[in-house]
Amino acid sequence: MTTTTSLLGDKPVHRIGFGAMQLAGPGVFGPPADPDGARAVLRRAVELGVDHIDTAQFYGPDVVNDLIREALHPYPAGLRLVTKVGAARDDQGGWNLASTPDQLRDQVEANLRALDVERLDLVNLRRMERDHPDGDEPALADQLGALAELRDAGKIDLIGVSSVGVDTVREAIETVGIGQVQNPFSILDRTDAPVLELCREHDIAFVPYFPLGSAFGGGGPQALAADPHVSSVATKHGVSPSQVALAWLLAQYDRLLLIPGTKSITHLEENLAVLDIELDADDLATLEHVEPVVAGH
Ligand SMILES: NC(=O)c1ccc[n+]([C@@H]2O[C@H](COP(=O)([O-])OP(=O)(O)OC[C@H]3O[C@@H](n4cnc5c(N)ncnc54)[C@H](OP(=O)(O)O)[C@@H]3O)[C@@H](O)[C@H]2O)c1
Repeated sequence: MTTTTSLLGDKPVHRIGFGAMQLAGPGVFGPPADPDGARAVLRRAVELGVDHIDTAQFYGPDVVNDLIREALHPYPAGLRLVTKVGAARDDQGGWNLASTPDQLRDQVEANLRALDVERLDLVNLRRMERDHPDGDEPALADQLGALAELRDAGKIDLIGVSSVGVDTVREAIETVGIGQVQNPFSILDRTDAPVLELCREHDIAFVPYFPLGSAFGGGGPQALAADPHVSSVATKHGVSPSQVALAWLLAQYDRLLLIPGTKSITHLEENLAVLDIELDADDLATLEHVEPVVAGH
């Protein structure tokens, strides 16, 4: 049977959380067209048992964390707020590197203020080593050192790393210890299978972003619906192709935590119902044949 809870560090969390990025305006830039609707999605998520929300101050920027605070503060006991640092937005919504130790410290403080908490449950260092391999990203050791100081000061409970290769994960494990790896991974994009394997070896939570293959670059849910293998398993279980994709992820590793993103309460409810889907060995064998559609990192 699919396990319903897992661990973030040593804290129990429901295996299906919520990724809040989609709650900002188009392109994760500016406010949403329907802020009341966005706050209603967040409230419904918590009502249905979500206790792990993934966010960032650069979603909007300065939009999604405000929506979370407005919708949910004072936060229910046990709600884990996970954020990420390492990027900033320009006036047109472009994504820039902002990951010197000072910039990371400033972003942690901005998240603490906007979410109105004294301590963040986990802060992911969002590296750009794969987006801009020739970029002049600060040394990993300096970045992790800055986050470790904030952890020592009680402002962060756990450190995570995001969008990283196996060498970076290894260095982070060895130097500061990490509570999660957050990388793109889905039935459509299994490029990071070696990173998932490393998490298994070290018993670290793996949190796939773009679990449905992403809203960007053509649309993951549409690609899932178009795949005959996903569709056949969906028909067999009487569920949607997106639900099959999420159930497949849960079957990969018992410390895999989902953070699917949606603006829709209907989709939210569908995503949370995925724990009831039991994929058998035949289903998993069929799903091995899904055609990859890599969304980019
Ligand atoms: N660390 C990083 O660099 C990084 C990067 C990207 C994302 N993230 C995090 O990962 C989270 C998840 O990624 P994501 O939201 O971009 O991608 P995703 O979960 O793969 O896909 C989201 C898309 O799927 C649709 N969707 C959601 N549930 C659905 C369902 N049941 N049926 C059909 N369509 C459904 C959403 O549209 P509707 O709104 O219409 O439902 C949206 O278009 C983000 O929210 C964010 O917190 C982290």
